[in-house]
Amino acid sequence: MDSNLLYMLILYPIFFIFPAYCANGAPVVFGGGKPLDFGVKFRGKPLLGKHKTIKGLISGLSSGIIIGFAQSLVPGYSFMLVIGAVQGIGAMAGDLVGSFIKRRQGMKEGSKAGLMDQYLFLVFAFLFSIPFGNLPSTYGIIVIFLLTGILHKLTNTIAHRWRIKDVPW
Ligand code: CTP
Ligand code: MG
Repeated sequence: MDSNLLYMLILYPIFFIFPAYCANGAPVVFGGGKPLDFGVKFRGKPLLGKHKTIKGLISGLSSGIIIGFAQSLVPGYSFMLVIGAVQGIGAMAGDLVGSFIKRRQGMKEGSKAGLMDQYLFLVFAFLFSIPFGNLPSTYGIIVIFLLTGILHKLTNTIAHRWRIKDVPW
């Protein structure tokens, strides 16, 4: 593949969305403890559920900021500072919206919700990034969606084997 195409289709899209990946993964490692919804119920069911914690949220937001800051040090990519912060917020918002929807449907914390578990954080991270520009090309975004499906399965299987996660999804 010609190096410019490789950059446009794969390298830049991965670089661009990297803060969102890190923000999404951080709570699995650093989360736990007090639930974000403080046990509050909404129409008889948990608002978000016990698995969405304050520490998890803070670790996700911080990861976006820290990764974005590190990436902004690459000459020509100073815009990643803002993108990182915004993707941290987007990824966490998507994650919480997913839990909110799962609880409304009566699904238990940690139950499998297929596409929503895999992609909601990503969709929100992209949507939140739009106002700040520098988005990858359409093909690049498609590559990211395909890659995320594969990575999600792989990282969750590994996290389960290493006993970091209770369930392999
Ligand atoms: N986690 C956390 N705080 C968050 C998000 C996640 O502590 N804000 C941790 C929890 O230990 C959670 C794990 O990361 O079990 C995996 O997160 P996720 O798959 O997003 O949540 P689920 O356990 O599937 O819960 P839900 O059904 O609400 O999506
Ligand atoms: Mg889950």
